[in-house]
Amino acid sequence: METTRILCLKNGPYEMTGDLSIVDANGKTVSSEGIRTYHLCRCGGSQKKPFCDGTHSRIHFQSE
Ligand code: FES
Repeated sequence: METTRILCLKNGPYEMTGDLSIVDANGKTVSSEGIRTYHLCRCGGSQKKPFCDGTHSRIHFQSE
């Protein structure tokens, strides 16, 4: 059975794994076929939202 997992990485992004698609506010699919793991920004600082671009490290994002 296929499962989807969302893992909150400490002081970092959400790691999403599984058979999923990511759709933006305009209805455009922004995920790619064949890719099963994505890192989504939760610090608010990424320039590539909804994806993490590593900014969380530079701004010392704290998840707690
Ligand atoms: S969580 Fe990585 S850039 Fe926001």
